[in-house]
Amino acid sequence: MEQQTILSELATDTFRGLSANQKFLLSKYFYDDEGSRIFQDIMQMPEYYLTDCEFEIFTIHKEQITLAFREGVQSFDLIELGSGDGLKTKILLQHLVEKLINFHYIPIDISHQANTELVKSLKLELPLLSVKAKTGDYFREVKKLNGYSGLRKVILFLGANIGNFSDEEILLFFGQLSTLCHKGDKVLIGFDMKKSPDVIMKAYSDPHGHTRKFNLNHLIRLNRELDANFNLDQFEQHTEYNPLNGAVKSFLVSKREQIVHIGALEQSFHFKQWEPIFMELSRKFDLETIESIAENHGFKVEKQFFDSRNYFVDSLWVKK
Ligand code: AVI
Repeated sequence: MEQQTILSELATDTFRGLSANQKFLLSKYFYDDEGSRIFQDIMQMPEYYLTDCEFEIFTIHKEQITLAFREGVQSFDLIELGSGDGLKTKILLQHLVEKLINFHYIPIDISHQANTELVKSLKLELPLLSVKAKTGDYFREVKKLNGYSGLRKVILFLGANIGNFSDEEILLFFGQLSTLCHKGDKVLIGFDMKKSPDVIMKAYSDPHGHTRKFNLNHLIRLNRELDANFNLDQFEQHTEYNPLNGAVKSFLVSKREQIVHIGALEQSFHFKQWEPIFMELSRKFDLETIESIAENHGFKVEKQFFDSRNYFVDSLWVKK
């Protein structure tokens, strides 16, 4: 049933995206099991500074982060949205376990495989940790968690995932987060900051071919799940950065005029030569924007945890 719902959403979103004047596909569909694996490769690239930044932030500030999480309470639920392989979070989890802090870790991820592997590795590495993983779309899972245990909620949304949201999705996400949180609940959100365009372009312009694979995997998914016939050789990946609004945009560009048929939609889609499909937004932020998002949704910025280069911030908010 769940599988059917996901499939029909994928079909509807794909129809909407490929029928639009400027074609687009939604980047949330990148993360099937293979997409999640390719994203691990991206995170291992030395040029993809985001991962190192958050590692550094957690390593330097874990003591202060812990203090803020447990301030005024005996115990809390640590809920991570989009936990993936949990590599960065493990620094924090290990510290919390070592300090004998009383908390439950609830990782939520769309990939069942990522979740299974995370739980398996946590059982080995941190056997004393209380973990209850959930698989699903995090908007939906966040909703289900409402009133979960009555303990303080500390919600982690790391790794610059927020940068992949459109303006409307940002409003929807923080609206839901705000409804879900009670006074005193906290959120820790990773924001990639505006910085030298050169540094940003090196991370996203695909020096090792992983980003191309990551984008093409979306088409492979449509071929498999929606009976489409995309010819992967006929699409070229392209990335651009606009320092005015901090938007990194990724495209697949059709190398020739072509028709693609999607069996599940009983539709064919025409591509002009060099016509782009907009695949992903990876937005970069500044402090004013972060403050105003928090304020607009009933949160107060409690602390900003930066890496040593000020490339990235994990922003800690408390619900007012
Ligand atoms: C998951 N997300 C934060 C990544 C990003 O940086 O926007 C996805 C990604 N796309 C290309 N490279 C990495």
